[in-house]
Amino acid sequence: MKITLFGTGYVGLVTGACLAEAGHQVLCVDTDAAKIAALRQGVIPIYEPGLEALVRDNHASGHLQFTTSAQEGVDFGECLFIAVGTPPDEDGSADLTHVLAVADSIGAYITGPRIVVDKSTVPVGTADKVKMAIAAAQQRRDTNHPVDIVSNPEFLKEGSAIRDFMKPDRIVIGTDNPEIIGVMQEIYAPFNRNHDRMITMDVRSAELTKYAANAMLATKISFMNELANIADRIGADIEQVRIGIGSDPRIGYQFIYAGCGYGGSCFPKDVRALSHTAQDMGYDATLLQAIERVNTRQKQRLFELIARHFGGAANLQGRTFALWGLAFKPNTDDMREAPSRVVMEALWNAGATVRAFDPEAAEETRRIYGERADLVLTNTKEEAARGSDALIICTEWKGFMAPDFNFLAEALGEKVIFDGRNLYDPGRLASRGWVYYGIGRSTES
Ligand code: UGA
Repeated sequence: MKITLFGTGYVGLVTGACLAEAGHQVLCVDTDAAKIAALRQGVIPIYEPGLEALVRDNHASGHLQFTTSAQEGVDFGECLFIAVGTPPDEDGSADLTHVLAVADSIGAYITGPRIVVDKSTVPVGTADKVKMAIAAAQQRRDTNHPVDIVSNPEFLKEGSAIRDFMKPDRIVIGTDNPEIIGVMQEIYAPFNRNHDRMITMDVRSAELTKYAANAMLATKISFMNELANIADRIGADIEQVRIGIGSDPRIGYQFIYAGCGYGGSCFPKDVRALSHTAQDMGYDATLLQAIERVNTRQKQRLFELIARHFGGAANLQGRTFALWGLAFKPNTDDMREAPSRVVMEALWNAGATVRAFDPEAAEETRRIYGERADLVLTNTKEEAARGSDALIICTEWKGFMAPDFNFLAEALGEKVIFDGRNLYDPGRLASRGWVYYGIGRSTES
């Protein structure tokens, strides 16, 4: 089938490449000419395992094309996917400028019936706005080609986006026109073999499903972080508690890891946007607000422990800290709302220097913070440690799981670790003379 993707960001590019790989003819449209030129050369703007090869191969075979022309895009696909960004507005609501700009282009160039699929994460009610924007643009040209709007939220995780797309847990299709379901089945047939994973519902429910899924996962994390802080105070170990409760299949083991807070482009933004939608409807979403508040506080937890260990923030002046892990989670270079940023910025405010190592996110960190005397980005984790006073861990990269503690003991000024991801065994470290701070482990709390 011929499919157009508007937006070559994370979601657009992964979706486009995977649909092309499955045999569809895909055209990706982006207004950013430099990005399109780079994509034609097989250079992708983000780090995502497997994506570059998929883009290159499918571009070479002709299944995946790129253009800056919206008109070409509208002409090309019988199905037009909108996968442009919805950055948060200042008040936390989702900014629909890009989505509605695509809708306007569709209305401006449409020459026959089309199915418009909303893949961007958009507040409930956006499908109606998209429909109206397309209709208004058509009206200006005196055309009235039939357009069906489908809400098809994506559930990709950074770092495993290709696998998530190729083997989805579910494919949520929201439509108010049952005739569209067959077309969506055809598009997703390659990813929907053996047993049917397609779940169809009305448009608004599909739009809400996306927010509900992310908010539920964020709730699990904030809940565990809250419990971790309680565990610290009562002398319990959240890791034991996690194992104890996860064994109940109603709770499950996933997404119950306490840590230094959730980050990324999705949870923080989506929890805020859902709160905002509720507020717009006159409902005070108390729980959603609390999830966000707990997370904001949790991101300060590591700095709190560091300041306390050294006898107050004033004593951090002139000290140097090794920081392992900058990305908001492993296997990505994404720094959006990363807990590491809160820690680094607090350390800098206190007059400390950070020697940071991340396997992927150094370049992104440099882009965000530029060159500064109090940030040294190192090429190895060992280099970050050498000459630092203490070690801080913000991301659970595999390479941090089993470090050489003898080396660290020599490299660091003090045998002290502030671990925001609970990577090590507190008992073993204590027996080797380390001062070890975890999250909710009652270690040195
Ligand atoms: C999240 C969802 O997991 C995806 O299903 C969804 O499609 C995506 O948002 C989206 O809306 O696009 P992502 O933001 O890539 O995916 O990352 P996650 O793996 O969910 O991690 C989010 C944050 O939660 C990370 O900072 C991670 O460290 C933290 N986390 C996760 C915890 O602190 N504890 C856990 O137990 C799990």
